[in-house]
This record gives sequence, structure tokens and C-alpha cells, in this order.
Amino acid sequence: MLKPEVIKALESLLADTAVVYYKTHGFHWNVESADFYGLHIMFEKFYNEIWESLDELAERLRAIGGKAPPSLRALLERATLSETETTPTDASMIEILKNDYQALAQKTREVAAFAKSQGDEVTENMLIDKATSLEKATWMLRSTLRY
Ligand SMILES: [Fe+2]
Repeated sequence: MLKPEVIKALESLLADTAVVYYKTHGFHWNVESADFYGLHIMFEKFYNEIWESLDELAERLRAIGGKAPPSLRALLERATLSETETTPTDASMIEILKNDYQALAQKTREVAAFAKSQGDEVTENMLIDKATSLEKATWMLRSTLRY
């Protein structure tokens, strides 16, 4: 069942999810902080969830007749969120991730609503679950900023 507009929206969501995945994993590697261990572990929890999410998004794309972008370049061309090209301070990492998770949660909600409007409730349901996790991560990051 080919739903071209839903496929396009999912490709873009997959791309943004990949950007946030790599950024979170990169911060896990590079963070330096008085709370190194706490941040290192929190980022790991988040990137593991996002990794699962990437797999499910790509497989849903296949299930509705699309293809996963075949290269990192093709993936990045579809992204709307920016990569972080530097190694920020620990506080900046948390702020950057908080904004990215918030944006990704919002986009996930929007694509869920769009999928529903196109009669694709399966994609909608999958995305609602992802938005729930992303909003939880946003809350944790926001709370960490208060230290
Ligand atoms: Fe690690």
C-alpha cells in the first residue's frame, strides 16, 4: 500500500531521528563534567532508545512501500535538524539535546497526526509511542539543566 506523502514525512522523521541519534552518542563519548558518569549514562539510555526508534521507523517505511535512505548522505539531505560540529560544554550539550528532543517530539506528533489524516492509524500509533518517550527524555534533560 503506497502512501507517498506519509512515506515522505516518515523519511524526514527518520533523518532527524538519525541526526539526534548520532549527536546523543557523540555527546556520550565526548562529555566532560563534574557529573561525567551521570551524563554519560543518561546519554547512553537516550541513544539506545533512539537507535530502536530508527529501526522501527525504517521498517515501517518498508512496510508501507517506501525505502530507507541508502546512505548517510541521502539521510542527511532529508533532515531538518542540524548536526553539532563542535564539542560543547556539558551544560550546552544538555541544552542542545533538550531543544532537539523537544523538536523531534513535536515533529513526531505532527507526522502522527498527518498519518492519521491519511488513514494510516498504524503509523500514527507507532509515532504516538515515540512521542511519549521523546517527551520523557525532554523532561529529564530540562530537569538536569536545573543543577
Ligand atoms: Fe559507550
